[in-house]
Amino acid sequence: MTAGDPMTRSDAVLVEQARVVLRANDRGDHTEPTASGLYPAQWNWDSALVATGFATFDIDRAWTEIRTLLSGQWADGMVPSILFHGDDSSYFPNSRVWRAGAAVASSGITQPPILATSVRRLVERTPHDRREQLLAEVLPGIRASHEWLLRARDPEGTGLVAIVHPWESGMDNSPVWDAALAAVPPEPPVAHLRRDTGFAAADDRPRGPDYDRFLNLVTGFREVGYDPAAMWAHSPFLVADVGFNALFLRAQRDLLWLLDEVASPDPAGRARVAAQIERQRRALAQRWSPTLRRYCSYDVRHHREITAPGVGGLLPLYAEPALAAEHPELLETLRTWRAAVTYGVPSFDPRDPAFERRRYWRGPVWLVVNRMLADGLRAGGHPEPADVIDRDSLSLLRRSGFAEYFDPVDGSPLGGRDFSWTAAMALVLLS
Ligand code: GLC
Repeated sequence: MTAGDPMTRSDAVLVEQARVVLRANDRGDHTEPTASGLYPAQWNWDSALVATGFATFDIDRAWTEIRTLLSGQWADGMVPSILFHGDDSSYFPNSRVWRAGAAVASSGITQPPILATSVRRLVERTPHDRREQLLAEVLPGIRASHEWLLRARDPEGTGLVAIVHPWESGMDNSPVWDAALAAVPPEPPVAHLRRDTGFAAADDRPRGPDYDRFLNLVTGFREVGYDPAAMWAHSPFLVADVGFNALFLRAQRDLLWLLDEVASPDPAGRARVAAQIERQRRALAQRWSPTLRRYCSYDVRHHREITAPGVGGLLPLYAEPALAAEHPELLETLRTWRAAVTYGVPSFDPRDPAFERRRYWRGPVWLVVNRMLADGLRAGGHPEPADVIDRDSLSLLRRSGFAEYFDPVDGSPLGGRDFSWTAAMALVLLS
């Protein structure tokens, strides 16, 4: 659908159904990713995206989602990847494994920092006379979270922040992490403790040995009390993920926009963020690979370039729409990936031997990524590839509902059903 088209009946039905999904997963002050029991808690970037979905029909509920997310922020500024608000016994690793968080029990790592970007979307939908007060509530937390990332995850000031766990990327088991993760011991075996495979087909979920490594990292972090300096110094997994950095750069630009929205200007604070953005932009530009025609992550721990073709390598399009103009090859890469499947955008290059069409982040389509790419392309003056992505997203929604993720070859629904962030993306897309 393009702007200006009348809503077809099926669009209206889709909107109605998407609202029903959000309402069903709504726990009052936060939204669970799905009602099935697969994820009985509040996830960081899910919530930020879900808030943009709520904002299309209930702006107050959208702000509540953000407030609850910030209520779990740590004193040092980190916004955890998961906040455990209630009975989390159907999930592993749950609060008894992490043993972290103060006001709210939480995980001890973070997730893609998209809060500022979502809050900007909310502000744009909030009446002018209410903006100042809402921003006063959330801006200090957002700024602290950005400062935390720069301090804890880029202590040497390179302009790129590093993640200490694949889960922080949001793209948990992408083949992009395989080589770096191989250095992490796969023990102890935790297959018997996993709960996810009870809710979704084992073939769609991460493999056992990967899960053992994921948990080994968690144990190591817990043993150092989640001290950022110790995690930076000793985590066997330390990666400058271009996807994460692209989202952070975008969030910094949106933070600047938010700072300009408030009535009382803070020129020093603004200049500080602007300088950070300049450094981040330069560092991200360095990650461009002219031969691979995409951006490549970097294994900071082992001083190695990561060449595996994950969709994070295309996300700089979203951080900095002008990049598509600077590197038109990026559009070519996107086109090639799309041509190899029926529905885009696959989370991993379908021509690569590591591609698996059904397994989580090793190939399936995730609508949150589609939305970001389409948004970046449109902002950069490339409406045609953006329309292709939006059309694919809508076809998948019509064919398979609000699944957690989708098979790029036959479009079938994968993982959990009635997923909050998928429903939210439908609402944003059709609003
Ligand atoms: C999985 C995804 C992650 C998401 C979470 C909750 O762990 O990989 O990105 O935040 O599920 O939906």
